[in-house]
Amino acid sequence: MKRVAVLTSGGDAPGMNAAIRAVVRAGIAKGWEMYGVRLGYKGLIEGRISQLGMRDVGGIMQRGGTVLGSARCLEFKTKDGQIQGIRSLNQHGIEGLVVIGGNGSQTGANALRSLGYPVVGVASTIDNDLYGSDITIGVDTALNIALEAIDRLKTTASSHQRAFLLEVMGRDCGYLALMSGIAGGAEMVVIPEVDIEPEEVVETIWHAYESGKAHAIIVVAEGAKYNAAKLAAYCEEHEERLGFKVRTTQLGHVQRGGTPGAFDRILATRLGAAAIDQLESGEAGVLMGWVNNKATPTPLDEVVSKKKPLDMKLYELARILDR
Ligand code: ADP
Ligand code: F6P
Repeated sequence: MKRVAVLTSGGDAPGMNAAIRAVVRAGIAKGWEMYGVRLGYKGLIEGRISQLGMRDVGGIMQRGGTVLGSARCLEFKTKDGQIQGIRSLNQHGIEGLVVIGGNGSQTGANALRSLGYPVVGVASTIDNDLYGSDITIGVDTALNIALEAIDRLKTTASSHQRAFLLEVMGRDCGYLALMSGIAGGAEMVVIPEVDIEPEEVVETIWHAYESGKAHAIIVVAEGAKYNAAKLAAYCEEHEERLGFKVRTTQLGHVQRGGTPGAFDRILATRLGAAAIDQLESGEAGVLMGWVNNKATPTPLDEVVSKKKPLDMKLYELARILDR
């Protein structure tokens, strides 16, 4: 292998730049020419590919987002789009591709694999919902941002004896809500994996006050059946009976931006470098994820066909501890 490209795709995640840096420098260390694709699969189709040297990836590790840019690209879901992507790579004489991203991005990588192109994925999404990686790049930083929000909300909630709904990201997965709720000592977490009726949230808030708490913090995943807006609307509708108002904070993209923490930089560095070793071994078509404390390959078709379950024992633990 002489020429290898790297792209970042889907939702950005803090740590993606450390992964780009590791891929590029580990590749150059093997004597390869390294290339960056701008704007994910969109840029791949458009042929936005240029060579990256050691210095091009200097000073980027501490930056949030991705210096290569990311995009969501519907055209790449079609076979024509995927063939055009491979054509762009061939035009530059590129023989292998590293795809840094989450579930959707790895589905795209698997499509390239099924067309015979050597591709290796790197597990990166703040949602932590990717099969084949115990933890993905960006999760730890996002978790700490959600945790800081909980800590801050608790102080103002206690001052005013209030209940707060904090909505965190997680399209289909309650990992961020559950773990930040545990770490922050929230009174309840509401996640897509567990059906909860609004009345149960109301009862939790009542219980918090009756047991002498000065606050009640409910962490809600955006993908839950009743998200924060729906729960707030329910409380407003029943305000007279309940006798309290809830305040809502939607954390949104604040969780995805900003400087990655040490954990994400190191995870990204190790997975990025491992992706290059994997390409060198000739066994492409896999995702490099973090499994049992080491960088581990899992076939891409397995990654995209299996769902990573949330550890429901942790949910039970949260329910015991939040009393
Ligand atoms: P993430 O990788 O963060 O989960 P998305 O789900 O938005 O983000 O996916 C990122 C991109 O991956 C999409 O915009 C699309 O270009 C590509 N992709 C997603 N699903 C598929 C698919 N089924 N086939 C081919 N490419 C896909
Ligand atoms: O997949 C990562 C994620 O941040 C999800 O948690 C969230 O639902 C989604 O991306 C938001 O996407 P966008 O940035 O396109 O609004």
